[in-house]
Amino acid sequence: MAQINPSILSADFARLAEEAKAVEGADWLHVDVMDGHFVPNLTLGVPVVEALGKATGTPLDCHLMIEAPDRWAPQYAEAGAGSVTFHAEAAAAPVRLAREIRAQGARASLALKPATPIEPYEDLLPELDMLLVMTVEPGFGGQAFLDVMLPKIRRTRQLIDRHGLDLWLQVDGGVSADTIERCAEAGADVFVAGSAVYGADDPAAAVAALRRQAAEAAARGRER
Ligand code: DX5
Ligand code: ZN
Repeated sequence: MAQINPSILSADFARLAEEAKAVEGADWLHVDVMDGHFVPNLTLGVPVVEALGKATGTPLDCHLMIEAPDRWAPQYAEAGAGSVTFHAEAAAAPVRLAREIRAQGARASLALKPATPIEPYEDLLPELDMLLVMTVEPGFGGQAFLDVMLPKIRRTRQLIDRHGLDLWLQVDGGVSADTIERCAEAGADVFVAGSAVYGADDPAAAVAALRRQAAEAAARGRER
């Protein structure tokens, strides 16, 4: 099943509650946490996640682009995030951290920047609920999708299937009507879309259209 997670990075930060309501048909709300160190941008933290969680019925998918996630990530699960993603490049002890996040009742997810390969993390897959393959360099919304990431998406899907795991494969960055089919055919099943959703005249309709497109492309991918 294709899931669409609108990224509020592309929403109006002064009207977050309304912007969350505008996409209530979405599977998750993607919340980009940036600390100005791991990425050259600064967004929001635990208090905003907590407030947003109270303002919407849509579960929160927190993508932490921060240094020292071992120290900070569990707080996001505690604040009510349903899924917490930390970066492989920043985590000192990813297994311990994933277990801590799961112990808080949230789904644990590992993100890979474009230059980080999946292979070193193969043995960690059973500790995770989702893998995020970044399809842009993290830091900003509205960047162009990196086609060079498609082989990594395919390899990751093969690894997940080979281990017989029920692990979601998320893509984030430049996902739009023009690129979502390539991602779905390669094996992604969770799609973050910022500008493609909030830049549309009708964000809810954009979510539904993207979901339909992804589901059709995934079916084509499986036929191959
Ligand atoms: C980028 C963020 C993305 C961003 C995606 O570092 O992680 O979630 O919001 O925005 P679009 O879909 O516009 O590329
Ligand atoms: Zn993100």
